[in-house]
Amino acid sequence: MDIHKLKFQMHGDNTGTLVALEEFKEVPFQVKRVYYMYDTKNDVVRGRHAHKSLEQVIICVHGSCKIKLDDGRESEIVTLDKPNEGLYLSNTMWREVYDFSPDAVLMVLASELYQESDYIRDYKDFLDYIKNQKGGNDEAT
Ligand code: TYD
Repeated sequence: MDIHKLKFQMHGDNTGTLVALEEFKEVPFQVKRVYYMYDTKNDVVRGRHAHKSLEQVIICVHGSCKIKLDDGRESEIVTLDKPNEGLYLSNTMWREVYDFSPDAVLMVLASELYQESDYIRDYKDFLDYIKNQKGGNDEAT
């Protein structure tokens, strides 16, 4: 399965470290929205959705969490625990984020503004959606 982990350059010396992200450079799209999650309880599973067109880069800037990626054919679990590492998520990737450490801060860079109609929140709808796309028809039902 294609996992797109991104390694960001660390600018630092013995005073500390800085990571800079620019659209179309470290981030492969125009960034229209940033949001972040923290104080997530350890037994919580976030996400459980895919998108019709939204792309994301997610970065665990503090602490750690796991993300299960599912492209409809296979799935893989990725651990995010480094502030200089990101994970690119294409639109049609089902994602479930869980096992947040108490100090986890998960930052998301998104290619679109928040739009509920872009979400696919039902797993069966997700499978139907990607099947229709492969058939050359990317209209959602
Ligand atoms: P939700 O998408 O349900 O989070 P998750 O699927 O990761 O558990 O979002 C939680 C709440 O935050 C929901 O009320 C919608 C709101 N929200 C915004 O207002 N703007 C945003 O950019 C996002 C991602 C969520």
